[in-house]
Amino acid sequence: MKFSIKLFFLIFFVVAVSAFVGKTDNSPFDDESLSLFYYNRSCPEVEKIIHNKVKKWVDKDYTIAPALIRLHFHDCAVRGCDASVLLNHKESERWSNVSKSLRGFEVIDDIKAEIEKKCPKTVSCADIVTAASRDATVLAGGPYWQVPYGRKDGRVSIAKEAELVPMGHENVTDLVEFYQSKGLNIIDLVALSGAHTIGRSTCGSLQYRLYNYMGTGKPDPTINPKYLNFLRRKCRWASEYVDLDATTPKTFDAQYFKNVQNKMGLLHTDQILYSDSRTSPLLNALASQSGLFHHQFAASMVKLGNIQDYLSADDGEIRVNCNYVNA
Ligand code: HEM
Repeated sequence: MKFSIKLFFLIFFVVAVSAFVGKTDNSPFDDESLSLFYYNRSCPEVEKIIHNKVKKWVDKDYTIAPALIRLHFHDCAVRGCDASVLLNHKESERWSNVSKSLRGFEVIDDIKAEIEKKCPKTVSCADIVTAASRDATVLAGGPYWQVPYGRKDGRVSIAKEAELVPMGHENVTDLVEFYQSKGLNIIDLVALSGAHTIGRSTCGSLQYRLYNYMGTGKPDPTINPKYLNFLRRKCRWASEYVDLDATTPKTFDAQYFKNVQNKMGLLHTDQILYSDSRTSPLLNALASQSGLFHHQFAASMVKLGNIQDYLSADDGEIRVNCNYVNA
């Protein structure tokens, strides 16, 4: 038994370290064209500009931090990290029903406008979203990691494709398969779900758990009864908001995992990470060691940010305005 625990941590450590240095088991999703030094000559101030802008926005409204982190996830989950989520036309991802509660677009526009003044036609919107989500994480009290740059902005964005992003009703197998299709593994799944340690959800995403779960006429039995009462009071309307982490909603800590252990996962997909034998050992490890959570979150965010769509015929561009492809 002792040996298997040691083995588990050894595997955990090896995967985490390899991800951290960006060499993810030679998967076809690795992108060697990205580099930490990509803008060193062409736009040396890019990180400073992004950081200052994100800080300004978060200082005004702290809820912008989780919004930016989620925007990055939704960008990378469809066609890789190519800013396809930012394109703003009627059939684009942004206009899909599942993107309705995405926010932070105006922050990216603000950053882009400033960067275009200093380094015109040089920095991609995809790189801006990636760096902004890192800075947002740090400002919320989470870990820092170095962002490799050099992503291109895609020219294609299709609303229907956004519907493939998990929205909270899935089972663990669905989630694992979705992550695998992006070159991410089960450790990434559990660690990245930890992003739900900050931010909010519309009640519409969870109301189905509160009264008549799966046609049983009863609430989802995996919800802690006190938490259920709280959610029923809080979520009278689908458009109302509720914190993803009921205990420390503004701090990027490991409390999210402890909540899930206490049957206080807000989304069904948060709670099932605790009941499935593939994910529960990982969840328990992250719940008990906040340093490990921060370390693994950083490693998994690097992998998330490196997702590229190699099957796409589009080799991308540097958009001048993040909302539209170049003329
Ligand atoms: C396991 C897959 C995931 C599912 C099923 C999921 C689902 C959701 C849902 C349903 C919401 C609330 C949407 C609403 O307003 O109704 C949400 C919010 C959020 N998600 Fe996820 N998510 C997943 C993975 C991720 C990942 C990988 C990240 C980032 C690394 C992330 C970051 C966030 C953040 C920060 C929020 C709060 C946004 C805000 O406050 O505006 N999620 N997620």
